Order: sequence, then C-alpha cells, then structure tokens
Amino acid sequence: MRIILGITGGVAAYKAAELARLLAKRGHRVRCILTEAGSRFITPLTLASLTGEPCYGANPDQEEWRANPSIEHIELARWADLVAVVPATANILGKSANGLATDLLSTVLLATRAPVLWAPAMNTGMWEHPAVQANVARLRSFGHTIVDPSDGVLACGEEGAGKLAEVEAIAEAIQLAGSPRLPVLAGRTVLITAGPTREDLDPVRTLTNRSTGAMGVELARAFRDAGARVQLVLGGDLPAPWGVETVRVRSAQDMLAACESRWPGADGLVGAAAVADQRPERAAPEKVKKGEGPETLVLVRTPDILATLSASKRAGQWILGFAAESEQHLTHAVAKLAKKRLDAVLVNDVQDGRAFGNQPNTLTPVTSEGPQPALGPLPKDELARAVVAWWAARLG
Ligand SMILES: Cc1cc2nc3c(=O)[nH]c(=O)nc-3n(C[C@H](O)[C@H](O)[C@H](O)COP(=O)(O)O)c2cc1C
Repeated sequence: MRIILGITGGVAAYKAAELARLLAKRGHRVRCILTEAGSRFITPLTLASLTGEPCYGANPDQEEWRANPSIEHIELARWADLVAVVPATANILGKSANGLATDLLSTVLLATRAPVLWAPAMNTGMWEHPAVQANVARLRSFGHTIVDPSDGVLACGEEGAGKLAEVEAIAEAIQLAGSPRLPVLAGRTVLITAGPTREDLDPVRTLTNRSTGAMGVELARAFRDAGARVQLVLGGDLPAPWGVETVRVRSAQDMLAACESRWPGADGLVGAAAVADQRPERAAPEKVKKGEGPETLVLVRTPDILATLSASKRAGQWILGFAAESEQHLTHAVAKLAKKRLDAVLVNDVQDGRAFGNQPNTLTPVTSEGPQPALGPLPKDELARAVVAWWAARLG
C-alpha cells in the first residue's frame, strides 16, 4: 500500500517514527508530510531515513515544496492509497473537519480521494472539548477512521483520555482501512475461537496445550480486514487484535458459554481454538500438597464446543473447523466433518511441534467434496488471508 503519513505538532510525534518504520518493514511505501509544528518535534531526516522516501515539508516556502511548486499536493493526494495522520493535533482535526487547506498536509487531506485515518493525541481537556468532539464526529461522518486515543498519563502530567493509541494498533487500523472488502463477508458477523483452554487442577496448576492462538488471531484479523464484524473468543495470552470484539476465556466451559450467547447472532463460526478434551474431575480450592508414591489424576470430558454449536446451526450459518492431527490427517478430518456437520475442516499437521506459534504453516481444507488443494506453507498472517480468500470464493 502507498501511505501518506501526516505528522503534526504534538509530543507523540516521536512515535510516528516507529510507526513509519513498522509500516515500511511490512512492505508499505510510506511518504511522510510534516507540519511546521510537527517539524519542531521530529526531523524530516529521521523519517526519510526510516522510510527510504522523501519527507515533505509544511508549506510552500519550505525547500521541499519549492522543488516542485505547481502540483505537489495533487500528486501526493493521487499517489496515496491511504492518508493517515499520526499524531493528529486538535488543530489539524479542526482544519480538516472544516475544509481548510493552509499547508501541504491539510491541502493533501482535502484533495485526496483515498481513505483517511486519524490517530489524535492531546491533553484530556482538549480531547474532551465539545469543539474537538464535534470535529471528530464530522470527520467520522465523512467516512474517515478514527483510532481513539487511550487513557493514561499524558506528557503534560495529567491523567486521562488523550494518549496516542498504541503504534501496533494504529498499524492494524491502517491495514484495515486500506484493505479491500470482500462482498460476501462485508457486514457479516463471524465468531472465531482461538488459543488454548486451561483446565485448573488447583489455584496454581493447570492442564493446557501447546497452542498459542496465533492462527486464530490472524484469522480474526483477516476476516476483519475482509469487512466482517469479528467476535473473538480467545484463550491464552496473545494481545487482542484492534477492531475485533474480544472476550477472554480460560476453560473449555467458559469458551462454550461465551460462544453459545454469540452464535445465534453470527453468520459463521471458525473454530480455531485448541480446546482441552479433558479436565480434572475436580479443581481443588487450595494448592494440593505432594504425597508419597504414585498419584492419580481423574479426568473427565469437557464439552465439545463445535458439536454443541453445530447442533443449533440454523439455515445460512456456516462452520469451519480445525483439525490438529499428527497422523492419518485426512481420514480424521473427513470423520470430523461428517460427525460435527461442518462445512469444512482445515487440517494442520502438528507432528514434531509443527504448526505451533509463529512458524510458517500449511492447511489442507477438507469439504464434503474431499480434500482441496493445500494452502501454504505461508507465515500465519498470509495463511489466514489465504483461508479467508478461499472460503469467500466458496461462499460467493
Ligand atoms: C510542547 C508542545 C506540545 C504540544 N502537544 C500537543 C498535542 O499533544 N496535541 C495537540 O493537539 N496540540 C499540541 N500542541 C499544540 C500544537 O503544536 C499547536 O496547536 C500547533 O499549532 C499545531 O499545528 P499543526 O496541527 O499544524 O501541527 C503542543 C504544543 C507544544 C508547544
């Protein structure tokens, strides 16, 4: 994607350098435009060095703009697939909400037809001021994306709303704003389970598995980027992706409860979680002391989440399951597809720890027509996009 990154005059401008680096590292072309106030907080040289692209200056009197005096702002406006302003001052929000074009950045913002994203950062009093809130509402009404500031201790020493959102969250929002929507998924609700479940033996010990949840979290991002409203029921410790409604759960029973309340309102379900099949018969309220000699742990079955939700599947709903198999992959997948009445099973080979964590992975979809061409090997983010594209093509 070709991204114009506008940087305005706030203390958080230094974080734009990290964002520019991250976006460039992810393969985007990034051209920065610094406002005059922004250039007091961070230098054009830093941004040009990190992006490998020119950094544009504030106004026509500056050297960078003088080099191409006639149409720089229009060229940049046309060049961009997306314009992001990070951090966005109260001043630039006010100018753009009211159609003012007094310098290069505000002119590009007015001229561009690309999606626009704002990550405001300012003192809490400024952020909560009705004028700023009205400007933000107006920008939203233009279809612009706002990455809301978070609560925290601000550079001015105050504590409250106005802190620039995390750089990683802004990068995700940029990815989302610039991603093409897939019509069969746009506006649809997709429920996704991800991560391991944890079955406690006592307050300190737990039974779990080697799943991290990385594949399910990437699928949540990929469905979100395709335009779906994603509800993620997440076990484990991975951070929740931006723009995804995430509910954190611990045990298989918690995961089932979180899914059962959401499933009736969903169009589809992706069961990517590694749900424990067994739990201790009882969880001790106090830490269990070690005894002498062999000890026995009695395990009982946990609820089968996919089978339970599948039993209440209504017309039009679809379910994608995952199978982590270490042998006879396709035979097991075909059996799972039929037994749980799934629309497809994506088969993972987990022999030798393959498929866990951040390793490239391969998934083989199995449908009622049998095994389909394998997707991958690919890094999990790309694999998730391949799964979504494959499924959207079948839905379409
Ligand atoms: C030290 C300092 C920090 C500032 N921090 C912010 C800020 O975080 N957010 C904001 O909206 N304005 C902040 N301002 C005010 C803006 O720099 C000022 O409104 C300026 O005109 C913004 O211009 P620009 O939007 O063209 O970059 C700060 C000013 C100073 C001197």
